[in-house]
Amino acid sequence: MSLRCLSVQNLRNLQSIDIEPATRLNIIYGANGSGKTSLLEAINILSLGRSFRSRKHKTMIQYDQPSFTVFGKVESVSDVAGQVSVGVQRERSGDGIIRIDGRNVLSAIELAENLPVLAIDSSAFDLLGGSPSVRRQYLDWLVFHVEPSFLSVWKGIQKCLKHRNSLLRRDKIDPLQLAPWDAELARLAHSIDEMRARVFERLSEAYRGLVGGLEGLSDVALNYHRGWDREQTLEALLAEHQQRDIDLGYTRQGPQRADIRVMVGRHLAADTLSRGQQKIVACALLIAQGLVFSQQTDRQCVYLIDDLPAELDAHFRATLAGWLCDMQAQVFVTGVDQEILLAAWPDKLKTQDCTKMFHVEHGAVKEVELPSIAV
Ligand SMILES: Nc1ncnc2c1ncn2[C@@H]1O[C@H](COP(=O)(O)OP(=O)(O)OP(=O)(O)O)[C@@H](O)[C@H]1O
Ligand SMILES: [Mg+2]
Repeated sequence: MSLRCLSVQNLRNLQSIDIEPATRLNIIYGANGSGKTSLLEAINILSLGRSFRSRKHKTMIQYDQPSFTVFGKVESVSDVAGQVSVGVQRERSGDGIIRIDGRNVLSAIELAENLPVLAIDSSAFDLLGGSPSVRRQYLDWLVFHVEPSFLSVWKGIQKCLKHRNSLLRRDKIDPLQLAPWDAELARLAHSIDEMRARVFERLSEAYRGLVGGLEGLSDVALNYHRGWDREQTLEALLAEHQQRDIDLGYTRQGPQRADIRVMVGRHLAADTLSRGQQKIVACALLIAQGLVFSQQTDRQCVYLIDDLPAELDAHFRATLAGWLCDMQAQVFVTGVDQEILLAAWPDKLKTQDCTKMFHVEHGAVKEVELPSIAV
């Protein structure tokens, strides 16, 4: 998959942008505040209907403008003849329009099917040090894409939890009322756990393949926790701890508590690794996600790497660039310094066929020539 055209109007400081990205590497550089992250946000909006930086559409609309628009043409590698047009418009009132090939679409889920995007920005650190929900979402993104029944099972779990938790909060509870929800929750939990565990195994293998050779990081391991005790069924646990759940007013154990722990021996990686080491491990997790995605679906993700040089030394910058290069994915990378950004990539990628460079200045984006030594 690759994004072949991108137009943006009135998104943050980007007033009117039209670019034709390269199929492999797009280097976007410019001063602080010039609009680089905003450009990546625009691409993310074409994939998810929203930005990776904020869920607030209003703050993204350019001051004094009524709406922003992002439009793109996506080419799928398996179907070179077929380009899909995607567009997203958001109004200040909160209304939005999503269009795919000229037809209005109600759910943003269809966008991700046409343009699956993975973003690596400063929030990547949350994969190690953030709350379990971040890692659960990370795992579930992949489970959603590779396990066809995931969405219906996940929705079923949300429904069970909603009903069970509202019963738990009532003044008087008839245990007989809880029983059917417990049984259904346990059934669905078993199903989602099987899917997650299957996908986790593949993810973990891909991750080990990436970090295995890196000095000081080969013993950073991933552990999957399903959200309840390994030794017991969830139904038995829910019955056993019913009073505790009533006291708390919510369901304490279950698939809604699943997590992936990133460990160095017996310690959490977030507590022991340096910032740069944490960032490269987080990047490896996100690259592994894209690798399993492409193995399982025969499609490629587009990668958005915001501020690639931040926290990484030249060795880790080249490591990350090497992983992305091997994946043959379309990549958009940003940074302040053009030379540092360009130096990270293998020479074979720095040709006019594969790579384009864009300079961002005060919200305007201009394609510039690759330096001649690299061509
Ligand atoms: N709604 C908005 N309307 C107009 N300008 C905005 C709006 N929201 C943010 N901006 C401005 O857009 C500019 C671009 O921000 P952006 O985060 O894209 O910059 P950047 O190039 O990524 O900078 P850095 O190198 O510091 O990360 C900033 O100057 C910001 O103040
Ligand atoms: Mg930025």
